[in-house]
Amino acid sequence: MPSLPSPDELIFFVNGRKVTEKKADPEANLLFYLRKVLRLTGTKYACGGGGCGACTVMVSRYNPKTKSIHHFPATACLVPICSLYGAAVTTVEGVGSIKTRIHPVQERLAKCHGTQCGFCSPGMVMSIYTLLRNHPEPTPEQITEALGGNLCRCTGYRPIVESGKTFCAESTVCQVKGSGKCCLDREERSFANRQEKICTKLYDEDEFQPFDPSQEPIFPPELIRMAEDPNKRRLTFQGERTTWITPVTLNNLLELRASFPKAPLVMGNTAVGPSIKFRNEFHPVFISPLGLPELHFVNTTDAGVTIGAGYSLAQLNDALRFIVSEQPKEKTKTCRALLKHLRTLAGAQIRNMATLGGHVVSRPNYSDLNPILAAGNATINLISKDGQRQIPLNGPFLERSPEANLKSEEIALSVSIPYSTQWDFVSGLRLAQRQENAFAIVNAGMSVKFEDGTNIIKELQMFYGSIGPTVVSASQSCKQLTGRQWDDQMLSDACRWVLDELYIPPAAKGGMVEYKRTLIISLLFKFYLKVRQGLNKMDPQNFPDIPEKFMSALEDFPIETPQGLQMFQCVDPYQPPQDPVGHPVMHQSAIKHATGEAVFIDDMPPIDQELFLAVVTSTRAYAKIISIDISEALELPGVVDVITAEDVPGDNSHQGEILYAQNEVICVGQIVCTVAADTYAHAKAAAKKVKITYEDVEPKIITIEQAIKHNSFLSAEKKIEQGNVEHAFKYVDQITEGEVHVEGQEHFYMETQTILAIPKREDKEMVLHLGTQFPTHVQEYVAAALNVPRSRIACHMKRAGGAFGGKVTKPALLGAVSAVAASKTGRPIRFILERGDDMLITAGRHPLLGKYKIGFMNNGVIKAADVEYYINGGCTPDESELVLEFIVLKSENAYYIPNFRCRGRACKTNLPSNTAFRGFGFPQATVVVEAYITAVASQCNLLPEEVKEINMYKRISRTAYKETFNPEPLRRCWKECLEKSSFYARKLAAEEFNKKNYWKKRGLAVVPMKFTIGIPMAYYTQAAALVHIYLDGSVLVTHGGCELGQGLHTKMIQVASRELNIPQSYIHLSETSTTTVPNAIFTAGSMGTDINGKAVQNACQILMARLHPIIRKNPKGKWEEWIAKAFEDSISLSATGYFKGYQTNMDWEKEEGNAYPYFVYGACCSEVEVDCLTGAHKLLRTDIFMDAAFSINPAVDIGQIEGAFIQGMGLYTTEELKYSPEGVLYSRSPDDYKIPTVTEIPEEFYVTLVHSRNPIAIYSSKGLGEAGMFMGSSVLFAIYDAVAAARRERGLTKTFTLSSPATPEVIRMTCVDQFTDMIPRDDPSTFTPWSIRVS
Ligand SMILES: Cc1cc2nc3c(=O)[nH]c(=O)nc-3n(C[C@H](O)[C@H](O)[C@H](O)COP(=O)(O)OP(=O)(O)OC[C@H]3O[C@@H](n4cnc5c(N)ncnc54)[C@H](O)[C@@H]3O)c2cc1C
Ligand code: FES
Ligand code: FES
Repeated sequence: MPSLPSPDELIFFVNGRKVTEKKADPEANLLFYLRKVLRLTGTKYACGGGGCGACTVMVSRYNPKTKSIHHFPATACLVPICSLYGAAVTTVEGVGSIKTRIHPVQERLAKCHGTQCGFCSPGMVMSIYTLLRNHPEPTPEQITEALGGNLCRCTGYRPIVESGKTFCAESTVCQVKGSGKCCLDREERSFANRQEKICTKLYDEDEFQPFDPSQEPIFPPELIRMAEDPNKRRLTFQGERTTWITPVTLNNLLELRASFPKAPLVMGNTAVGPSIKFRNEFHPVFISPLGLPELHFVNTTDAGVTIGAGYSLAQLNDALRFIVSEQPKEKTKTCRALLKHLRTLAGAQIRNMATLGGHVVSRPNYSDLNPILAAGNATINLISKDGQRQIPLNGPFLERSPEANLKSEEIALSVSIPYSTQWDFVSGLRLAQRQENAFAIVNAGMSVKFEDGTNIIKELQMFYGSIGPTVVSASQSCKQLTGRQWDDQMLSDACRWVLDELYIPPAAKGGMVEYKRTLIISLLFKFYLKVRQGLNKMDPQNFPDIPEKFMSALEDFPIETPQGLQMFQCVDPYQPPQDPVGHPVMHQSAIKHATGEAVFIDDMPPIDQELFLAVVTSTRAYAKIISIDISEALELPGVVDVITAEDVPGDNSHQGEILYAQNEVICVGQIVCTVAADTYAHAKAAAKKVKITYEDVEPKIITIEQAIKHNSFLSAEKKIEQGNVEHAFKYVDQITEGEVHVEGQEHFYMETQTILAIPKREDKEMVLHLGTQFPTHVQEYVAAALNVPRSRIACHMKRAGGAFGGKVTKPALLGAVSAVAASKTGRPIRFILERGDDMLITAGRHPLLGKYKIGFMNNGVIKAADVEYYINGGCTPDESELVLEFIVLKSENAYYIPNFRCRGRACKTNLPSNTAFRGFGFPQATVVVEAYITAVASQCNLLPEEVKEINMYKRISRTAYKETFNPEPLRRCWKECLEKSSFYARKLAAEEFNKKNYWKKRGLAVVPMKFTIGIPMAYYTQAAALVHIYLDGSVLVTHGGCELGQGLHTKMIQVASRELNIPQSYIHLSETSTTTVPNAIFTAGSMGTDINGKAVQNACQILMARLHPIIRKNPKGKWEEWIAKAFEDSISLSATGYFKGYQTNMDWEKEEGNAYPYFVYGACCSEVEVDCLTGAHKLLRTDIFMDAAFSINPAVDIGQIEGAFIQGMGLYTTEELKYSPEGVLYSRSPDDYKIPTVTEIPEEFYVTLVHSRNPIAIYSSKGLGEAGMFMGSSVLFAIYDAVAAARRERGLTKTFTLSSPATPEVIRMTCVDQFTDMIPRDDPSTFTPWSIRVS
């Protein structure tokens, strides 16, 4: 290797401040640098791979040529700091802060209720802020586009988009589709005859400070001077292991390229970065030519356009848009095809970072652009020290044939895209699990050139992505088809030949083999239709148009900006104005979320001597541990210790949950040991060096089916039975039997599990800070592991960046693992799970198998049901038994079936232990119920909604376990939902649509819900609170509940404000801790507000009773005066409040009980459109009617409902966990696990809180944290309805079952047609599939 010059100083600006880094490490990324070096912790880590947007910052650069400043969003986790020389970075702290001034973007995000846990909020702020810097008055479409790369797991996006829309020039008032008027008018009328007044404003726009774009900080003049300096010189940065070189001239670059032929050219770093991070690539030298002006240009000639390789994909998009607007349509077919894919490729951040050159040269197999560029006959202009040359961007190049490749010393200078001609057609086609920001499952670029004036193929090209290790060309088939006419016979031959040529082996990596085969020809068919339509437009005489019914097959679903309305009961006009109860009060921490000032665990400053922990996890599902060799790991720099089961002073297996594996491993992902080191990088490097030898043990049980076969269960069967099921089956008209599979779900809370464990010097005390739903549980596990009394363990919980059930039990285990490390090393431990480890280790929702036998009459009345549920519990008990109990108790849902038997078992398998997840089994089990109702409807020739209505509880009744309830609110929600959503009219309209469209189908479904909150054990619903009044009158409220983003603390402040009759501003809530409120139960089961609210209320009432004599004596006095007087009178100003809990119980022997305190009802209608050729679907509209009784905070409650609905929709449609047959979880990042993004939410979204009474709960409210989840299944059943319409049209009338999730794969393969018939099928006994279903 040639010698390198001495390192330079790295100079860039962050938030207007100059940063001079003398030892810039090429391996350090901006996220790390911001958080750990500059201590700007507003920018968050949530995935590390560019896929979530939590780390979004704005990067600004000055262009000395154009004298303009370019602002763009970037994901800091993929920005090497060395690439920032001369750039200005703006983070959320630089946008605004509470200490100085909050920015309108931050204010509006908070006030529009666009934050819940707040972990995604800084990223959201930065995406909108950057957009505003470039477009101060953006369009709603630009807002949606800007947010496409930002994930939020809490809100359901609607309020975030809405906050952005407040900056749009055009009216933000909703327009009901096509009508040009606001849906509010319509709804107000429809509610006019009601007693109560309905409100629709969750915030007041008049409160917003105006946005003045001229007030933004200026670009640092020093950076302008640096950029304009004519004597710029090459820069070199030297790290611990690597060197970074930034050339300043092209010649310089070419020399470097020749000297370091293996060094990657780091452009956007969106391919190089992830390869280093996730695939362990190592490069000693990086060359960074990003700033070279020679790589940044657009050149148009008569023949086409040439675009510099350094253009980002966003700049490419702008350039192509300009060309398309300037040139005649026929010349820009390739450009338009590229534009279409550029809209959905990754998110805005990646599109602004990734470059054309990097994309083309790195040739990912999923590339969205290369297949189109190849089909459009693009060429790559190369340059090296030896000169320039052009190579075609064709099949051999994409397939990486050595002779078609770049030479090692060459770089791509630009890409030339020729204009299309009149008789050319070029198209880009793609299908992904989700519309935006998801790699394609299959994509394609296709082009055909005809002999002028004919439909005779002169040249045909087809390139497919994602079906093999590279983009592949169907060149043989294309050759064979040359000279053929563009007709049905050609299509039929083309399909057969292409399938032959592009054979995907049955066990291919990535799975979905039959689906991919189907897509190959379905996309080809789409292209065929498009070309036929094009030919017809050019010469209608000679080329007939495609059938009208096929027209809708041509277009992909458009990305619309969502709109809608939220309706709730207005506050009683006689309520005192100071009383906040019932008002849509903003989340207590919302502003802090939006400014990045809310402190999450890893935002806490380093503690002296602290160590980082990295985990070593099992790679085997079931094996004996033969040996653990830690010697190499211990020798690495910075490593302090390796901790194993041997080091646990107390219980290594508490209540069946194992901290460190001992002697054997029972799942892939089980923690075997941890490494403690001075930095995370060192800990991780050492963890990779730990060598474990295993000996596999049989049988290894992965699926429910295998567990049943081996009789492997975690607990005894649970059963509820009423009536006489066997007898009833004898007297029914029909019986239907079936099986429903519902796969699991990853919590994907944005903040991964993070723990700070601090050992104290005295008395074996240990302090833990962590984001948990159950601090008491952590305390218990840590005490057991360390073998100390619980009184020595203090757990502090301020907030969690989302939890959804995933932080009920798992933090205890991880807390204990950290505490053991802290105890052994005697040093504080910071344990932050990387996203991949979090997904692998902590598991999620239980996969479920439901088997049903239903007896019913021809009129749809169900007489008997015999249902069996199996859940995949994983390898340890966790909460599986309880989940199963909930399933058995709740799964009757809204239906009365006189003869009903429901049984369930929790299976023990060699998967990581599944755990609590919002809804706790209900969302899975009720899919089975709705599935059998739908099956009955199908067999009775009725609508499912009719069968639901017939069998729904109608009057005061008893559940199957004999709990009495009044379903009146259920009936009301159901009725209103049918009426207000115009269900029957829209159903007819959908049928009309379906008659006219063969390849696109619409479907609607309404689901009713009877849900219960709480838990059947009275002591598990007790709660306590501690309220202190200080002498200045300020009040500190503490209670046992945890703030997870659900607004619990906000509601508690509302409660305290009402009870103490003081403004909310007097009341503070700091944290939840085992030291203030002992033995608190978990915050879960939708009862956080219910039980903690009662405890806070109780404490406040105690205090008010003490103050009462003073107030009576001085009724006109002020709060502060009363408090001062109370102190003078020696009255205690601190009180403990207590709620004994709901008196629930369940007797499993007798199969009866008052299992739950009350019921929450609801109904939801969704309408979808399905693309039968690809399996994609679009959610057109959703109407939710939720029985909220009296809402303490409608903004929080609607936020919970919408967020849960979108999370449910994810469960039932796009979220798919993939496991190998060996029990290895493949889906460990946002790249391969797709939670909904802003593009998935309903185009029209209406949520109504329905008023009822619930005297048992505080202020007659209801717990709504989980109920919305199941509403998402209306999307699943709407998809079912659409697919059923497709199947009927194709002559398939038999009832079918759609499993969950209804992914594009499931939808496409259920819409059986000539293409699914044509693909080769494999005999399952002849191969081992890449992935298996575990439900
Ligand atoms: C979260 C995420 C989502 C994504 N989603 C999609 C998607 O949906 N569809 C899709 O198609 N792609 C997607 N991508 C991939 C993305 O398009 C590519 O990573 C990107 O285009 C690569 O460009 P880059 O500038 O970042 O390359 P870099 O990572 O900087 O470089 C990549 C490689 O190209 C070489 N190289 C770069 N420029 C040149 C040059 N001028 N001459 C010679 N060699 C060069 C480098 O040596 C290096 O080996 C996604 C990426 C991420 C991180
Ligand atoms: S942390 Fe950077 S994109 Fe997810
Ligand atoms: S508020 Fe968006 S992830 Fe929690």
